[in-house]
Amino acid sequence: MFNFFKRRPKTDFEKKLSSPDGKLLLRVLLKSGHLSYSLTKEGKTVLKNSMLGFKLKGQKPLDSHLGIVRGSEKTFSETWETIWGEDRLIENSYNEFTIYLSETTGERRLMTVRFRVFNDGIGFRYELPPQPSFYRAEIEDELTEFNIDLNSYVWKIPAYQPDRYEYNYERVPVYELENSVHTPATFELKNGLFISLHEAALYNYGEMTLKLNQWKTVTSDITPLSDGIKARVELPFDTPWRVVMVGDHATDLVKNHIVLNLNDPPKGDFSWVKPLKFLGIWWAMYVGEWTWASGDRHGATTEHAFEYINYCKNLGIEGLLLEGWNGGWDGDWLKNGATTDFLKSSPDCDLKQVADYAAKNSVKLVGHHETVGFVDNYESQLENAYKFYSDLGINYIKSGYAGSMMTVQGKREFHHSQLGVLHYQKALELAAKYHICLDVHEPIKGTGIERTFPNLLSREGARGQEYEGGALTPTHACILPFTRLLAGGMDYTPGIFDIENTVKRLSSTLARQLAYFVTIPSGMVMAADRPRFYADVFPGAYKFIYDVPLNWETTIPLFGKIGEYYAVARRERGSDNWFIGGVTNENAHALRLDFSFLPVGNYRAEIYRDDETAHFRDNPLAIKIEQKEIKYADTFDIFMAPGGGFAIRLEKL
Ligand code: NOJ
Repeated sequence: MFNFFKRRPKTDFEKKLSSPDGKLLLRVLLKSGHLSYSLTKEGKTVLKNSMLGFKLKGQKPLDSHLGIVRGSEKTFSETWETIWGEDRLIENSYNEFTIYLSETTGERRLMTVRFRVFNDGIGFRYELPPQPSFYRAEIEDELTEFNIDLNSYVWKIPAYQPDRYEYNYERVPVYELENSVHTPATFELKNGLFISLHEAALYNYGEMTLKLNQWKTVTSDITPLSDGIKARVELPFDTPWRVVMVGDHATDLVKNHIVLNLNDPPKGDFSWVKPLKFLGIWWAMYVGEWTWASGDRHGATTEHAFEYINYCKNLGIEGLLLEGWNGGWDGDWLKNGATTDFLKSSPDCDLKQVADYAAKNSVKLVGHHETVGFVDNYESQLENAYKFYSDLGINYIKSGYAGSMMTVQGKREFHHSQLGVLHYQKALELAAKYHICLDVHEPIKGTGIERTFPNLLSREGARGQEYEGGALTPTHACILPFTRLLAGGMDYTPGIFDIENTVKRLSSTLARQLAYFVTIPSGMVMAADRPRFYADVFPGAYKFIYDVPLNWETTIPLFGKIGEYYAVARRERGSDNWFIGGVTNENAHALRLDFSFLPVGNYRAEIYRDDETAHFRDNPLAIKIEQKEIKYADTFDIFMAPGGGFAIRLEKL
């Protein structure tokens, strides 16, 4: 602790703080009572001077006449172990500077800002301590700037749109940003650096989107409640962390763990949480073979569930999703959410019988809750619905919040508003109480809270394969690792082998479907196609789905150019086997794999790759499956067809 000012706090102050490796330099500046910060990496500008503060309803803005009361510094370093995820061990090392501020006039409100500088970026948050005359705040705006060079490019999806996060990414110059965009928003700076702006530990607050403010500076735009207020909070209150990830290369972002590091360790014992690979009564509905609605073609019947459980057993897949077992799907199901009953089966599905048969065959069921965003109806049944599943031995749930807005407390709210955030959190914590793991569709974005609540095994929150059949291009999966996936794993529903299906034609080759199991991490992964395509049509390709794990010891991004191609290697947790996945966009691409990343030794490689004649448009099924001996430091050229990819399993000999 230093600089204890007993009298009138100084309104001018400067503090420089570097990362543990000395490469990043944060400057915190208090100038004439205004607080700002800037960031450089080895002399290159990351963010120019960026202002901080709040606009509060019924009060003066909290962004001027500020003086420093004191500052404190701390150095921290730990390595912590994940229960599941892309890396078993995560290093969390940073230098911290906290500035305690007081207004120098008027009510002398207090505000603290805590900064952490890691080797690969920064995090900071506002902390509002309790104060006699300031104990509650209605936040009209958070005035956090990220002063990025306007000539940089940003990969973005639009915010406040009917399909939430489910849009195709676009790359535009920052000065062309017109409307708010979601984070993680990833920027290619003119000086060659790659940065991604995001947030961590989002609780009880609106989600941060980004826009250009009146001075054309990238600034926070907190998602409003229906009355326009961004958040109503009681003091003491800490905002989520604002995060700036920094890399020399796009692939550096993939290994950035700041978002997880800025979250708390697990609250309670989560050793019961296990990642799950599962089949689904699902894609058959997308391709029109079955329906969610009742009738002759109803998908989630007792009979179909038994059939799929048998497939799980024969294919060696641990779990089965039963989507549409309860009512609510007849007619325009998007309008049924106010009355959905989460405990009542449709007449042709005897859930008890299905659960017993699943248990007998050691198959774990994944229950389904489609809320259509009617939070009020869902919350009124939530505990009973979780208890109901848990009593049946169902410990995984896929939940859904389809629809452009939510109904919360009788009002139409954004999913990512403060009230939405509170609901998702309530559901997650209650699920933990019943030892239930969640895979949330139409979620809010990930902010690393799965460190604290590891039962949050997956989320959707971007366009997944259900958008195939026209709305997805091969480029999309070459952007996700550098944008959406920086917020955590995604339920992308890989493994669709029936690529040429005329109802849902995929923009993919067969080999690429295997690559997704490695390129798109997730704690819950549905092998999404109908199981006959695994058992009978392409059993050779299926072997990779059987072999691929969901929990990783370590992850090494190998190649990446945003929107063009991506390849990553991961070592299975608890084994010496490695898996590599790669995808390309509409263009063919060859990569020279250099196996120097492997520990010294010999490996048997099982290679699943596009044939030279493959093409996602007219020859998607042309796959080559071959074996080869590989040893440490070998090199190997691998070809990816347009819209293609590859998957490799390396078994240590
Ligand atoms: C959208 C989800 O993403 C999808 O997986 C689900 O099948 C439908 N909603 C129906 O709940």
